Amino acid sequence: MSGKEKMMISGGMPLEGVVRVSGGKNTSVAVIPATLLCDEPCTIENLPDIDDVRALVDILRSLGAEVDYEPGAFMRVDPRTAHGCQVGYRDAQRLRASYYLIGALLGRQGKAEVAFPGGCKIGTRPIDQHLKGFNAIGARTEERGGAIFADAEELTGGDVFFDVVTVGGTINVMLAACKAQGTTVLHNAAKEPHIVDLANFLNSMGARVKGAGTDTIRIKGESWLHGTTYAVIPDQIETGTLMIAAAATHGDVEISGCIPTHMEALTAKLLEMGVRVTDSDDAIRVRMNGAHRAVNVKTQVYPGFPTDLQQPMSALLTTAHGTSIIQETIFESRFKHMDELVRMGANIRVVDRTAIIEGVPTLYGAPVTTTDLRAGAALLVAGLMAKGETEIYEPEYIDRGYEHIEDKLRSLGAVIRREPIE
Ligand code: EPZ
Repeated sequence: MSGKEKMMISGGMPLEGVVRVSGGKNTSVAVIPATLLCDEPCTIENLPDIDDVRALVDILRSLGAEVDYEPGAFMRVDPRTAHGCQVGYRDAQRLRASYYLIGALLGRQGKAEVAFPGGCKIGTRPIDQHLKGFNAIGARTEERGGAIFADAEELTGGDVFFDVVTVGGTINVMLAACKAQGTTVLHNAAKEPHIVDLANFLNSMGARVKGAGTDTIRIKGESWLHGTTYAVIPDQIETGTLMIAAAATHGDVEISGCIPTHMEALTAKLLEMGVRVTDSDDAIRVRMNGAHRAVNVKTQVYPGFPTDLQQPMSALLTTAHGTSIIQETIFESRFKHMDELVRMGANIRVVDRTAIIEGVPTLYGAPVTTTDLRAGAALLVAGLMAKGETEIYEPEYIDRGYEHIEDKLRSLGAVIRREPIE
């Protein structure tokens, strides 16, 4: 991204107060393409007003769907005029989730031509499992000229055995299978909260998806899906990022409108560090005064420690007492932010997919650059906890996944603003 702005943070202020978390990015970018499977208009609520959502509005409109989008209120999609089946390079590159249009268009009209997706450069991120799943339900797929071509006279239910647990693969095949003749069974499926949320959305349209949240999902195809109104779940990763920021600034923050049971892996890790975490039905309070202990973190598929929280967590660990070890088991290149943290005074050594973090007394503000969405989250946390002023270049990455994040942090006492780059 060739940013025109930089984010400025004057660190050292403890975050204090109550902040409401937004709707989930990774659930929204699955539910919005899923509206194309519907045979009537449907309305989605609680969507976060982020770049990835806006990109999908443009893509659905380019396919001919009527989209009425009121940021912060609702999105109404009427897919009945959506006759297109192509998503071009420029649109597809705007986000990773553009590839969900393959499953949605296959399900809707048996044909899709979607350029390879964009998204964070945190590894090779192949899509072989998506294609394996589409083939297992009767679709022909071909990679040609930087795009995926998929088509099927008729999708027929089948058995899909994922070789790796893949969130995107599980979602993409689930979409297509909703309109297949017969029953599709996904084995070794991903269990993330947004998989369950997508299944609930599809079922609210009359789809027959069972077992979401377990490693075996059964989908009985339906030829007709009726309209619905559905509110997506709160964002698990934004909740976690705010929890980490509260601890990192030795603050006292209540994150409201969240689902504490989605946060258990992070909560357990923060408690292990000596952070005070208490939760109620739909809120989590994080308090931290005094020193926090070093811990080891190993990213896992849900319900393990989420890879998306590895990066902000690494910022918190830079000033923990002792040596922390982070193992990133999901993506092979998700440590690009570590160099930037070292520029701020952190003591970090990276060996392959392991980071060894020796706690230091404090970080110091510095100019740093965001390389991907959650690296941006890590630099946000580091800037909030550092002494002095931090300049974050390429903050546009952060805008892809965090709705009005500066307003939220400012409401908790952060000194943060955006400035044009001369
Ligand atoms: C989704 O990415 C999320 N993105 C990621 O969040 C998240 O980090 C990831 O799931 C894991 O939870 C969205 O939901 C839009 P995967 P996805 O398929 O679907 C390998 C964020 O910051 N794999 O579960 O791309 C893959 O290389 C983003 O919000 C294959 O080998 O993740 C990786 O090593 C970043 N073949 C592992 O599986 C495939 O066909 C997990 O990938 C697919 C995946």
